[in-house]
This record gives sequence, C-alpha cells and structure tokens, in this order.
Amino acid sequence: MDLGLRNKNVLITGSTAGIGRRIANLFADEGANVAICSRTPESVNKAVKEISLTADGRIIGAPCNIKDKESYESWVENMVEQLGGVDIFIPNVSAGGGNDSERNWWNNFEVDVLGTVRGVEAVLPHMEEKGGAITMICTTAAIETFMEPQPYNALKASLITYSKQLSQAHGKDNIRVNSVSPGPIHFEGGAWEMIKTSNQKFFEITEKTHALKRMGTPEEVANCVVFLSSDASSWVTGVNLVVDGGYTKRVQF
Ligand SMILES: NC(=O)c1ccc[n+]([C@@H]2O[C@H](COP(=O)([O-])OP(=O)(O)OC[C@H]3O[C@@H](n4cnc5c(N)ncnc54)[C@H](OP(=O)(O)O)[C@@H]3O)[C@@H](O)[C@H]2O)c1
Repeated sequence: MDLGLRNKNVLITGSTAGIGRRIANLFADEGANVAICSRTPESVNKAVKEISLTADGRIIGAPCNIKDKESYESWVENMVEQLGGVDIFIPNVSAGGGNDSERNWWNNFEVDVLGTVRGVEAVLPHMEEKGGAITMICTTAAIETFMEPQPYNALKASLITYSKQLSQAHGKDNIRVNSVSPGPIHFEGGAWEMIKTSNQKFFEITEKTHALKRMGTPEEVANCVVFLSSDASSWVTGVNLVVDGGYTKRVQF
C-alpha cells in the first residue's frame, strides 16, 4: 500500500525518544520531511543525525519546551518556514501521570492541553489551503478507569473531545483530525520500564490484563499513527483509534 507520504511535511512534538521518536523514524522511512523537537539540544542534534541516516526526505529539528508558549510557537513557525509548509501535525508531548495535586493539574494542562491547542492553532492557517492531517496522541487512561484519579487521565480525555470537534469544524478545508490512544507501551527509558523496576507485581498484572498478554511497543503505536495521518486514511476523521492489544475492556461502538 502506498501511504502517499513522500515529500509531505510532518511536525512531531517530543520526538527524540519513545513513541514520538518512532513516529518520526517511520515518517522518515516513508519519504516524508520531518521536523522534531525536545527540550534537550544534544538529543535533538543526535536524533536528527540518526534519523537522517536512512531518510529520503529532509530531517530538521530544534530544541523547544512545549510548556513555553513563545518557544513553542516559534518552533512551529521556524519548522514550517524551513520545510515550506506543513501537511501533518502530531502533538505527542505529555507531562505524564502524577498524583492529584494542583501542581500536577497545572502541569498537565500546560503541557498536554495547551501543548496541543497552541500547536493546532499555529498549524491550522498553514493547512487551510491544501488540507492536512492532525493526529493527537492520547491514552487509554482517558477512556477507562486507570489507577487513581489524576490530571493526566482527565486532561487527555479532553483532547479526544477537542480532536472530534476540530474534525467537524475543519473538514470543509480537507483537514482530518483524529486521535490515537495507546495502552501501556514498554520500551527502554520509558515509564513502564521504571514501573517494572519499582513495582514488578503491578507491571506483571498489567501485562496479563492485555488480551494479547504482553505490552505494546512504540513501533506498534507509530504504525497506526502514520497510517491514520496518511492519505491511505483519507476517509477517516474524528476517530479515537485505541491501540492497546486488548488492554481496555469496554465495547467500542
Ligand atoms: N509510554 C506509554 O506507555 C504511553 C501510553 C499511552 C499514551 N502515551 C502517550 O504517548 C506520548 C509519548 O509518550 P512516551 O512514553 O513516548 O514519552 P517519553 O518517553 O517520555 O518521551 C518524551 C519525548 O518528549 C520530549 N519532551 C518531554 N517533555 C517535553 C516538553 N515539555 N517539551 C518538549 N519536549 C518534551 C522528551 O525529550 P526531553 O526530555 O529531552 O525534552 C522525549 O523526546 C505521550 O502523549 C503519552 O501520554 C504513552
């Protein structure tokens, strides 16, 4: 199947490690031009070099903290200018899970919610003429009870509603908006590796809860994100694609 990604311009936030990095690699492998970021300049330089090794398209990046409005908005404008436009935007950064403290509510609001909203508002004017795709990275923690009440779960849920409403408002401009909700994803340096070390019992119970009896990989999420963002999914907008190996138990109508 041709995903039609050659020469498309893709912006991905939080893309030097984990799921975002794998998404960046996969778009690059498909011939897209890719712009990445993270807070750490050395990581950005290293990732740009590594991704470029096998890429057909252009790979660029710059450090930016998504929490900082000015730094974030100038990263978007700078990347769009360098690539000559933006076709696909993947807001991927999260402040992650944490207890139910006011500090964490603000942190998740600024990073997860505003980190998505500000990016969307910055890319939309660039997409209005020739269309585009926005795929937000959410989580199964937003759609089923997970652990304890916490801002991560509730505020990620707000993004699923936001993406649906954006899809209705911008369909007329051929801009598709979807979200992808991964279940637990295990990789070196990731949150579940830390949990495996600190609370092995919880890790094992979580693993067994999956219908497929294992945790997912960043590649398995990236495959779905790239497909959903590509022209191969041209008739799909406003969905929340759950990518969780059967971790959640609800019936999804
Ligand atoms: N891992 C899972 O099990 C899982 C499950 C469901 C959903 N998700 C979702 O998937 C997405 C990616 O998660 P992940 O586990 O792959 O994350 P991760 O391993 O923590 O990777 C985070 C990436 O984002 C960068 N980053 C973090 N904070 C940033 C900020 N404020 N500004 C700019 N860059 C920042 C990091 O680099 P620096 O630290 O150098 O900035 C790194 O490149 C998130 O939205 C998460 O909620 C993950």
